[in-house]
Parts: sequence; C-alpha cells; structure tokens
Amino acid sequence: MFVSENLSVNEKNHLVIGKNDAVELAKEFGTPLYVLDEDLFRKNCRVYKNAMDKYYGGNGLVLYANKALCTLFTCRAAMEEGLGVDVVSGGELYTAIKAGFPMDKVYFHGNNKTADEIDFAVKNGVGCFIVDNVYELETLNETAKKYGVVQNIMFRIKPGVDAHTHSFIRTGQIDSKFGVALENGEAFEITEKACKMSNVKVVGVHCHIGSQIFDIEPFKEAADIMMNFIGDVKDKLGLEIEQLNLGGGYGIMYTENDDPVPYDEYIKHVSEVVKAAAEKRNVKLPFILMEPGRSIAAPAGVTLYTVGGVKDIKNVRKYISVDGGMGDNPRYILYQSEYEAVVANNASAARTEKVTIAGKCCESGDILLNDAMMPEIHVGDTLAVLATGAYNYSMASNYNRIPRPAMVAVSDGSARVIVKRESYDDLIKNDVL
Ligand code: LLP
Repeated sequence: MFVSENLSVNEKNHLVIGKNDAVELAKEFGTPLYVLDEDLFRKNCRVYKNAMDKYYGGNGLVLYANKALCTLFTCRAAMEEGLGVDVVSGGELYTAIKAGFPMDKVYFHGNNKTADEIDFAVKNGVGCFIVDNVYELETLNETAKKYGVVQNIMFRIKPGVDAHTHSFIRTGQIDSKFGVALENGEAFEITEKACKMSNVKVVGVHCHIGSQIFDIEPFKEAADIMMNFIGDVKDKLGLEIEQLNLGGGYGIMYTENDDPVPYDEYIKHVSEVVKAAAEKRNVKLPFILMEPGRSIAAPAGVTLYTVGGVKDIKNVRKYISVDGGMGDNPRYILYQSEYEAVVANNASAARTEKVTIAGKCCESGDILLNDAMMPEIHVGDTLAVLATGAYNYSMASNYNRIPRPAMVAVSDGSARVIVKRESYDDLIKNDVL
C-alpha cells in the first residue's frame, strides 16, 4: 500500500510505523520529527549480510555507508548486525569511534582527506583507507611512517561505467572528481607507485559507480572490469590484490514509479561475475566488500510535519506549507527528487487533489513534493513524508536558523529519542560576539 514495507494504518485511520501511531509520535516528540524504524534498518543490514553468506560463502564484508545516516545509534546498530562501516570524513570517523566500532572494520573514504583527518585516522588504527589520489597516498605513507605502522589501503578506481542516474550522483565515469581512472593508466601507475612505498600495503581496489541505480548490469560490468584490473596487476606487478570493494548505489522505492531490484540480487549476480573472472584471469577469489547506504536507511525513515498553511491560488496551484522543508530534506532542491506523502491522521483517504507541499524557508525552491496527488489537507494535519531515512538528516542544514529536528527510533511499539532536537541555544553556541 505504501512504498515502505513497514507502514500500516490502524483503526483510527492513522499511519503506523514500528507499531507506533505516527500522530501520537508527533504529539509526544513534536514536529518536524525524523522517525527511524530500528527493526527495518536492522533487517536491511541482515539482507545484505545473509546474501553475502549465501552467494559468496561469507567471503566478504558489508559496509554500511555512514553518509546516508550517521548517528551513534545507526553506527551501533550496523555494528551489532555484523557490518563494517564506510566513513567519509573525520566527523563520521569520530562518530564510529564513539559508537565503539571495531576499527579494523572501518574503511575511510574521501576525495580530499585533509592531513589532520589522515593523522586522526592512522592514529586511531582505521582498518583501511580508500585512497583517492597521489597526494593522499604520499601524505598517508608519511603519516603511517610517523606512527610506525603499515597502513592497509585500496584505491578508488573509476571503471568507466556509465550508470543511469542523476548526474550529481554518478561517479564511475572518467570525468569525475573521485578516484583514478583505468582507461588513461592512472590506476595502474598509482598502484605501481604504492608498491614501492614502505608504510602502505595495497590490499584492494574499490569502485562506486553512482547512487540510486536500478539496473544490475552496470554493477556486473564494473565487477568484471575491476577483476580484469586485478588480473593485470598480478600479471604486470606480481601483486595479488585480496579485496574487491564494489561500492554502494542500490536503488530504492521512493514512489510507485520506482522498481528496485531485491537487494540480495546484487550480490548474487556480482558474485557470479567475480567467480567467472577470477577463473579466467587466474587470480584468487577476492574478499568482496559492498557499501550500501540508502537502501539500508532510507526505507526505514519517515519524517513527520505539521501543516501550518493551505494556500489555494485558484487555477494556479494549491500550496500546503509544513513546519520543515529543505533544512531537514534538501533532496528536492538538489535533485528534484520525488517522495510519497501520507496524511498521517487520515492515512487511507482517497487522493483527490493535486497539491504542492512546501517548506518554511525563504526560498521558492523549498519544496518537498511538487504536484502530488493528496487527500484534502487541513491546517493542523500531521503529514508524513516516506522513505526519508537516508540523505535527509545527514544533509540537513540550519538555513534560516531553523533548528534541526529530533530523531526517534521506533521498535515494536516503543519509541526513544536518538538525536535531540536542536534548541535556539544550539544555533548560537559557536557564535562569538
Ligand atoms: N560508497 C561510496 C564510495 C559512495 O560514494 C556512496 C555514496 C556510497 C557507498 C553509498 O551509496 P548508496 O548505497 O547510499 O547509494 N546525497 C545523494 C546521494 C549521494 C551518494 C554519495 N555516495 C542523494 O541524496 O541522493
């Protein structure tokens, strides 16, 4: 009935998430409110982990891509489900450390890690760096020398695969700021250079072709290309690459127009490609890593808002204004993304009119849903926007000095705050007069 499997409607015709009445949640915790269904988040972690076990004999590790939703709570949950974590900044790394994540399961990404971040990560014993470029490689080698360690690394490689998704989130092609390209020899050169360094050890190669991708073919193509690179490195440098990290990017259902592939299908198909290529190129079966973020977090999230205004501009447009917007969900303004919304206090009402749901920022593009079919909406209604668990809180801002919402985790009828609502004092805490 809804895009996310965990939602239902109770006898009061209210939306239910994690056995909690959404209208009651809004009353108890206030709006806007991020709600995370802990059980679904954990279930999604397990889908990937079980698929790795089933289709690849467990010879791999699923890393939760923290950038999708990074909190102490989500780090801890991913850890408890046996996943590793991909971090992309000192801040995400710090969160993982504070959540008690085992450092050997932390993989550090980023196309411009600062010297301080590199130092912080090496000092804390991060398991593996995904090295983006030669400057990083040199800084890292020096830093590892300073601490007297040999740092495991893999290279971020652009396999030259063109994934069909929004250009802002497409990353596998040569014209991308991320990583080194295969087709112009950069990837090979940097690997050769690293082999001669004393304090880094090349354990793997990595690629990530983009995000919100529905097709399995580009993932298979990327896996095959990467396996051939592993073969070339073995033939030419005598180096056996042990790990193949295939990134994330698995598409999810935001609206009924989206048709995602069941998540475990990715590992199933990609492992077949990897096994065949390993045999063909006479290389060892690599340890596989994958980095799903959105597909774990997004379906588990719902954002609740209170409707504050209805503006019906006859023959033009009907605007419904809510108490949040681009500050808590900037995805429409960035990518013209689409969502499904539900009137939480009238959840199964027929959708009879076309409206635009707008946020409260001083910005005309501050829209959550454009031209959406909705039931009649009234001031005071609780509006739920679905599948907001990924890239909402993690990309939230304080534009217009609007405090960021709280987040509650729901599980089997209980609800608890996992991120506190920001106060006005939080907003000025770093200001100096
Ligand atoms: N691994 C790497 C190296 C990545 O760059 C990303 C996402 C992921 C894994 C996780 O991808 P996922 O499974 O979540 O698609 N803010 C955009 C998405 C940016 C994705 C950036 N990288 C959005 O809201 O759509």
